[in-house]
Amino acid sequence: MNILIVGSGGREHSLAWKIKQSPLVNSIYIAPGNGGTSYLGENVAIEVDDIPALINFAKDKKIDLVVVGPELPLVLGLSDALTRENIPCFGPGSYAAQLEGSKAFSKFLMAEAEVPTANFKVFEDYSQALEYLKNQPYPLVVKADGLAAGKGVIVAGNIEEASEALHDMMVKQVFGKAGETVVIEEALQGEEASFLAFCDGHDYVILPSSQDHKRIGENDTGPNTGGMGAYSPAPVLPQEKYEETAELVIKPIIQHLEEMGRPFKGILYAGLMFTDDGPKVLEYNVRFGDPECQPLLMRLESDIVEIMMACVDGKLSRINLSIKPENSVCIVMAADGYPAKYEKGNEIHGIEDAETDTQVKVFQAGTKIEDGKILTSGGRVLGVTALGSNLEQAIDRCYKAADKIDFADKYLRRDIGQKGLRKN
Ligand code: AMP
Ligand code: GLY
Repeated sequence: MNILIVGSGGREHSLAWKIKQSPLVNSIYIAPGNGGTSYLGENVAIEVDDIPALINFAKDKKIDLVVVGPELPLVLGLSDALTRENIPCFGPGSYAAQLEGSKAFSKFLMAEAEVPTANFKVFEDYSQALEYLKNQPYPLVVKADGLAAGKGVIVAGNIEEASEALHDMMVKQVFGKAGETVVIEEALQGEEASFLAFCDGHDYVILPSSQDHKRIGENDTGPNTGGMGAYSPAPVLPQEKYEETAELVIKPIIQHLEEMGRPFKGILYAGLMFTDDGPKVLEYNVRFGDPECQPLLMRLESDIVEIMMACVDGKLSRINLSIKPENSVCIVMAADGYPAKYEKGNEIHGIEDAETDTQVKVFQAGTKIEDGKILTSGGRVLGVTALGSNLEQAIDRCYKAADKIDFADKYLRRDIGQKGLRKN
């Protein structure tokens, strides 16, 4: 098979690494890819939002499966366009992708499907939204409806902060069109975890739980990032709870979309908060998480291409996932300054050395190769990922490997996985 992977992050490097292990695969293309993916296939200079160019490329190279990493091309209709050309695509159509592309859509769908989530209201009118803020308990969460690069969610401690967030979104339009509609919702308290499932439109197969570390600073301080590390499983969602949790947060959505004639094929990612009243959905994503994908794929033993084709063909009921019993951890090494301004172009040393431990894999994210050198080219640079017979060993192995890698201005959190250790 010829496979086209769309995206350029650590997630896509880990997807390429896992896909390459499949005996079904002849060639892999990655659009646009990164330094790491260039060793596994051919990087193609097409941006993820250039839908016509992606379609033309897939036709030209007789691609048998397109695997979409990020949400943007899905929201823009890449999967629908490929399906019209009879090219299999792992990832939902633009209607179902609104689960991530529109927070209002997602909340209404959750309400219809009776999925537990924070109480909410949706506003398109600024003065009505402002009025609503007056009689609410705080903290309160203000969310821009559309895609806002992970920055569209403000947990406001008081009415002043909430009003400012609303003004930024609806009047100053700091997120452009994404903030024309806002969701205002109850703030939930608890620990978060990520819960992902392969879906074929009708059936689903769940992956083990994982937990991201969204803030830049240790002990979850400072601004939100794309994710600074992840581990799996997350003790806050233990294996014996997977089935009942999926019944609560995965099954009703899959069923509802199927009934609407909009079957969801791909990865459904539920971002959960474990509250005193049980798990509640904070958000859905319509793709693998980054960095959750890296530790999850380290644990996946099954042929991922077979699973993805089963999703596309509606044959997931035939698939049994084989998951390694080990724990896995991924530590993101970032460029200092991220998620704000940071330097690019610094040479990275020590990746080979880190990978001399056979239980370690270094996934590249913001990197490029120039004259045989690996250079930094983004905020999140690498995802050092390791397996261990328990969480403590996986963490230890991961940091030992990360400490062998060097580049100017490297930054990493030293507490990845600690929440899990405290729970064990
Ligand atoms: P989202 O993009 O919706 O996942 O929101 C990003 C982050 O904001 C989540 O990972 C939570 O940490 C936080 N968040 C979102 N919604 C809520 C909520 N209702 N209550 C508390 N925190 C929230
Ligand atoms: N790691 C969170 C996300 O991919 O959205």
